[in-house]
Amino acid sequence: MIRKCLFPVAGYGTRFLPATKSMPKEMLPIVNKPLVQYGVEEAIDAGLKEIALVTGRGKRAIADHFDISYELENQIAGTSKERYLDCIRNVLEQGTFMMTRQRQMKGLGHAILTGECLIGDEAFGVILSDDLCLNHDDEGVMAQMVKLYNQFRCSIVAIQEVPMEDIEKYGVIAGEEMGDGLYRVSTMVEKPKPEDAPTNMAVIGRYILTPDIFDILRNTPPGKNGEVQLTDALMTQAQNGCVLAYKFRGKRFDCGSVPGFIEATNYVYENIYAEGSA
Ligand code: UTP
Repeated sequence: MIRKCLFPVAGYGTRFLPATKSMPKEMLPIVNKPLVQYGVEEAIDAGLKEIALVTGRGKRAIADHFDISYELENQIAGTSKERYLDCIRNVLEQGTFMMTRQRQMKGLGHAILTGECLIGDEAFGVILSDDLCLNHDDEGVMAQMVKLYNQFRCSIVAIQEVPMEDIEKYGVIAGEEMGDGLYRVSTMVEKPKPEDAPTNMAVIGRYILTPDIFDILRNTPPGKNGEVQLTDALMTQAQNGCVLAYKFRGKRFDCGSVPGFIEATNYVYENIYAEGSA
């Protein structure tokens, strides 16, 4: 059974400067809720109640968000404003939170390896909270992936078809289709030029990883941009065993970019917040 979900939240968020100069990108709100809370809710809904945060300098607001604010609680206790705290109280009641710090931002692969001390020797989920995934009338994306893990017991990446002109922003997979929207990965390339991309199936920020990924990451040399790339480690895992890629049900917004962030804000406002279910 998967119990833990890792959140690498140490990145600089340069695409959102100056907003992210002193505020973590993961605390940017989509309407009234910070990005990281959407991710944590998705994990908890999937049964992953132990939340492991890999933070860094300047990210204390994230740790504070997942704690009680006594002064605020005291101030609004018994007033009509108390209901605004309901959804975060719910998260705090269900989840447990652990943290470690990534001291040098050496990429996603390095951030995941930094989280080894919180995960140990068990399979775990990974959510990049700047990829907002919504499937509000149905199962969340992590819940869909947990079901697949329980069936296949190997690492799984979530994928989405993207236009070829955007392919350079992603890790890209190719593989044999095993079932509806499920592929056994044979190739994985990080941020390929369109002419080198094997397909248009891009990896997005949801993973289930088996714990052998830690040893593989330890032995993975820095790749593209001088960073330890999770894609390179997953390629090794795919060659030695099995990695699945899954075309999830639901919507995904790239909230690490300004256009994706605006699109998500409009979508959530119109379809979730205005309906009273945010
Ligand atoms: P991004 O590629 O979006 O990088 O990282 P970033 O630094 O957050 O944003 P930009 O590109 O500068 O605007 C994907 C995820 O991996 C985490 C980020 O916090 C984000 O959730 N990350 C990345 C780390 O935790 N550590 C790193 O060294 C790099």
